[in-house]
Amino acid sequence: MELQRLEEFQIDAQTEAAIAGLLCECFPEYPQGRTYYKQLPDFRYLCWKAEQLIAHMAVEHRMINNAGAVYRIFGIADLCVAEAFQHQKLASRLLTELSLLGERHRVDFLMLMAKDHGLYLSNGFQLVANTCQWLLINEHRSYGVAHRRVPASLMVKALGEKEWKPGLADFLGHVF
Ligand SMILES: CC(C)(COP(=O)(O)OP(=O)(O)OC[C@H]1O[C@@H](n2cnc3c(N)ncnc32)[C@H](O)[C@@H]1OP(=O)(O)O)[C@@H](O)C(=O)NCCC(=O)NCCS
Repeated sequence: MELQRLEEFQIDAQTEAAIAGLLCECFPEYPQGRTYYKQLPDFRYLCWKAEQLIAHMAVEHRMINNAGAVYRIFGIADLCVAEAFQHQKLASRLLTELSLLGERHRVDFLMLMAKDHGLYLSNGFQLVANTCQWLLINEHRSYGVAHRRVPASLMVKALGEKEWKPGLADFLGHVF
């Protein structure tokens, strides 16, 4: 098994097709042939076995505003593992790799939105109840700024000493 971290601009057409295939398999509603919902991420983790892509995680490096404090974060999107390889702690390994990377490079928090929290709670994330503000994008068009509470979705993991606060979580961009 080979674990790879690739910057988005380095991804070639063949790798892009492999990512699009896995995303489609894992998320049936994913836009066909695409490797992102709203916007390109900054980098991705890819896990290969005998030239088959078996796990994927996209990451955005961004500043966000949490109740007036500005933090460096890694936003996680499209974490998935091919069905035949699930329940072998592959997703947990990708989350651990990202935590280590963030700790080495002054990232304050990992952030993500999820409906099912099991995987993330067991990997050090907490569910938070902030009102959120984010740029609304749909099919390559901007539609303004949303400002609302998203019940039981936003999860964060502190990588350093900084404390997550209640209050507004302003994504300063689209949602992951
Ligand atoms: C969620 C997913 C990435 C987990 O991958 P994995 O390699 O099996 O994860 P791990 O082995 O590290 O951890 C498994 C645990 O995650 C939890 N889990 C299972 N499905 C989950 C899901 N959809 N979301 C969150 N947690 C989940 C369970 O507690 C599971 O424990 P178990 O193995 O004892 O049943 C994988 O099931 C998947 O790709 N699902 C389809 C896509 C998806 O829903 N992605 C999450 C988007 S937020």
